[in-house]
Amino acid sequence: MRELAARVNLSHKDFIQPLFVDQELAHPRPINSLNGMSSDTIDSVLRQIARDMDKGISKFLMFPVPVSDKRNELDFSFALEVVETIKWEFGDNIWLSADCCLCSYTPHGHCGVLSADGSSVDNAGSVAVISDYALQLAEAGADNIAPSDMMDGRIAAIRKKLDGEGHDHVSIMSYSAKFSSQLYGPFRDICHSAPSGQLQNRKSYQLSPFNPDDAIRCAERDAREGADIIMVKPAGWYTDIIARIKPLVRQPVAAYHVSGEYASIELMAERNWINREAAHTELWTCLKRAGADIIISYASRNAAQWIKEMEY
Ligand code: PBG
Ligand code: ZN
Repeated sequence: MRELAARVNLSHKDFIQPLFVDQELAHPRPINSLNGMSSDTIDSVLRQIARDMDKGISKFLMFPVPVSDKRNELDFSFALEVVETIKWEFGDNIWLSADCCLCSYTPHGHCGVLSADGSSVDNAGSVAVISDYALQLAEAGADNIAPSDMMDGRIAAIRKKLDGEGHDHVSIMSYSAKFSSQLYGPFRDICHSAPSGQLQNRKSYQLSPFNPDDAIRCAERDAREGADIIMVKPAGWYTDIIARIKPLVRQPVAAYHVSGEYASIELMAERNWINREAAHTELWTCLKRAGADIIISYASRNAAQWIKEMEY
């Protein structure tokens, strides 16, 4: 009866698996903060994707981690090589979304370039660089561009550049409602992308948790500018935002269960305070119930198995 009455059903087909590819590594390295995740080399990410495909996962979100010597701050060649290699190996058997942001490249760790005196992020300058990077990722073979920078107007700029250069089939998953959050800590550690220097945080471009209307406005704006998927991030603390955005846009809504949220479940599970699998599937159910169509989780590769074994 509980199965029949269930109004929310999970499918592993709705899941996207994040991947980290780190230029510094000679061998894959398990990520301490994210149980079950590793930072990969170009070689090992191919093996990882093959294993994930065996588990029914075919959509991936790739984060490049370029060498931490950041003098060549706008040298995107490593990310392009990763995309090329992955798509060469797997072609259309996978959907590859490439993160498009500058925070792993810039010496100050911000998601855009700074004004001349370093006191603020230069929105227009950042959009120019980011849309250029997006075009290069598309040329390298990415199926989707995922701009996580939160500059204003970047969706329109990326769409225009892609369409102008014959990449109209490359879609955009926009980090539309991305909040300035404590929950990105583990991720910034992995990607060496914590902001530093004169500007200590991302509050001038990421959204305020105190202003939900701004998130709605950004989602509607990105939908208008040509985004194909609208993302809310973090996910579990922001289900009200998911629920409000869902009826306002016609694009699929993605919820990103971010590193800090993931780690908090894993930490409790490690202490045997909760059941790991049941906690993740309960959380996923909550995201679906709120209105999410797509889920991005570091445990996506377990989705098929955990959903099959899930108890209603
Ligand atoms: C950076 C970026 C962040 C995440 C994805 N892209 C962190 C940040 O904005 O500082 C967070 C992902 C996670 O925590 O799992 N553009
Ligand atoms: Zn960034």
